[in-house]
Amino acid sequence: MALPLIPFNIPLTPEALNSFHAVKASQRRLGDLIHYYSDSIAAKESLKADNPLVYEVWEMENEAPGRCLSFGMTRVSPGKVGREYFFTRGHFHAGEDGDELYVILKGRGVLLLFSKDGHCETIDMLPDQICYVPGHMAHRVVNTDSKELVFFTVWPPRIVHDYATITKMGFPKLVLAGQNGPEAVDNPAFSIVPD
Ligand SMILES: [Fe+2]
Repeated sequence: MALPLIPFNIPLTPEALNSFHAVKASQRRLGDLIHYYSDSIAAKESLKADNPLVYEVWEMENEAPGRCLSFGMTRVSPGKVGREYFFTRGHFHAGEDGDELYVILKGRGVLLLFSKDGHCETIDMLPDQICYVPGHMAHRVVNTDSKELVFFTVWPPRIVHDYATITKMGFPKLVLAGQNGPEAVDNPAFSIVPD
């Protein structure tokens, strides 16, 4: 999809983006993510009661030749499965050459990143901050707040999103509710899977 080559301005809200030219909306519910949570018993118990919306994404993939910016917005609901906070599924950029920028609009969270050699980093996501995602690192957003987390995203068009590697490997860290707030702990199920 391509944007018309004209200037524009729109409000920085999910509602505005949702009705903007050719933006694609998608949703992920707990039932779509059940295998990604570390506590499978808690996940199944949660699903018996409800199938809540975990996150929504609005994407403008600007794929016309010569264009170099795509953009979108993500809204992550507050909630937990057992002690593990709601998160986005997470992905690698298959070519590893497309970086990404997040602008945090509302809420608080943690950005989990890791490279295929297992090196992992956690970065706080706070309102009015930006987070820079290097193209070689997988990225997942965790909502550690009691309110929704909303962030605007910009990335180069034609990135291939690799979700399969995350499905196989998981993330090296889990973000759990601890006695003194959110804590990132080692994920015992994480393993590096060769390409
Ligand atoms: Fe990405």
